[in-house]
Amino acid sequence: VLLLCTGGASFGTWFWTRSAVNTTGEVDFVNPLAIPPLAESRIDDKGRRVFDLRAQTGHRTFGPDGATPTWGYNGDYLGPTLRATRGEQVMVNVVNGVGEPTSVHWHGMHLPAAMDGGPHQMVRPGATWSPHWTINQPAASLWYHPHLHGETERHVYRGLAGMFILDDEVSAGLALPRRYGVDDIPVIVQDRNFDSDGRFDAGRGLFGGIGVLGDTLLVNGTVGPYLEVGTERVRLRLLNGSTARTYQFGFADNRDFALIGTDGGLLTAPYRTGRIRLSPGERAEIVVTVRAGERAVLRSYPPEQGLDFFNQRFSGSDDRFDVLELRAAATLAPAPEVPDRLAPIERLDPASAAATRTFTMAGHDINDHDMDLGRIDFAVTRDTTEIWEITKPDGSPHSFHVHDVQFQVLSVAGREPPPELRGWKDTVLLERQRPIRIIARFADHADPNMPYMYHCHLLYHEDQGMMGQFVVVEPGQQPGRPPAGDHHH
Ligand code: C2O
Ligand code: CU
Ligand code: CU
Repeated sequence: VLLLCTGGASFGTWFWTRSAVNTTGEVDFVNPLAIPPLAESRIDDKGRRVFDLRAQTGHRTFGPDGATPTWGYNGDYLGPTLRATRGEQVMVNVVNGVGEPTSVHWHGMHLPAAMDGGPHQMVRPGATWSPHWTINQPAASLWYHPHLHGETERHVYRGLAGMFILDDEVSAGLALPRRYGVDDIPVIVQDRNFDSDGRFDAGRGLFGGIGVLGDTLLVNGTVGPYLEVGTERVRLRLLNGSTARTYQFGFADNRDFALIGTDGGLLTAPYRTGRIRLSPGERAEIVVTVRAGERAVLRSYPPEQGLDFFNQRFSGSDDRFDVLELRAAATLAPAPEVPDRLAPIERLDPASAAATRTFTMAGHDINDHDMDLGRIDFAVTRDTTEIWEITKPDGSPHSFHVHDVQFQVLSVAGREPPPELRGWKDTVLLERQRPIRIIARFADHADPNMPYMYHCHLLYHEDQGMMGQFVVVEPGQQPGRPPAGDHHH
């Protein structure tokens, strides 16, 4: 029987019947971890690195219940890992083969709004969209996923997502594990429900109104995954690719690992910790040390008591999941210590901020507004820095994600941010009545008519309208009008 995690167990008994829910969250690690292939690319006559991505329908057999209808890019589930280096120009030919409109957003990427792949860059069935831009940001683990207004959760849940790794001179010069698929591993964590025919079942968290909480974990699309490790150290690029669930990753034996990077790049120095919490859309790069012959289990732990935003309140379980088993070989190739210094991060100066804005995330609104594709909520002046303060007054889980920029967290509830929030971020989980102040620089890419999005990254909330739009304008310029929408829902 397919072994399931406990996450949605109580919902499971409400909404569908599965017999195999394992109430301790333990999993039989019986399947080798799938590694998304590195996307092929070519250099065109303009010197651009060109990728091809085709969103398509397919089937994937995840377990013994038979084939699940899925969507994927260039395959049946998820997509290849795109990879490019700072300074390169890239172009992606996105072909829509899923038979209904979709889009592809480059989450975490600094790029012109018209290339961003948000709801204004809808790709019609059968059409090709070819955004191009210059990579101009630090080495990082970014990702891509659909972003059509009102459809994001469903499209991602079907399987459309992939990683986009950026390299730069700094990352190339560091003694970090870097052999993709060998000691440098993408770990895309998603929770899913299956109905009795093996189909993905939304099993929506109706009572909590937070979207899908699945009872089965997939890692890179693999149920019960293990990874053979042949080196003393392995780098895991963790991506929470789930639609609603927040994880708190750690190891079953509570060993420490080195957190080396967050959403938008490497930290200034590794932070040794035993836990890292990731809400939907967030990433963390960690380096784990293993001993010859051992098996080390990556787990997601229930969060601390007293915090209101966590899944177990909605899933009715204790929310413990086994995620991935690392199987260390009997003899391991040596790997250097993680360097003490990683990447320089220039701190943005709050005194230089041209504006301070406040955002209240409540219900399905931001600042009492529902998303309107025809409304620009505000304009930011090109080449300025802004401070944004985000508050969540209610007990529902919300996060905050902003397009175009990587930001720095200035404070959480008035205090210095914890070490895991001191690097570049594009998505952050909010806790009730603990305002988060962030600072970001909007360096370039002015376009008064084409907005960027900011939103809750619980995809159900995003689809429900917990999203807004801003434009970047030249000094003194007025915001224009977003493209006329034939894509309102
Ligand atoms: Cu990952 Cu606006 O999204
Ligand atoms: Cu994004
Ligand atoms: Cu939310």
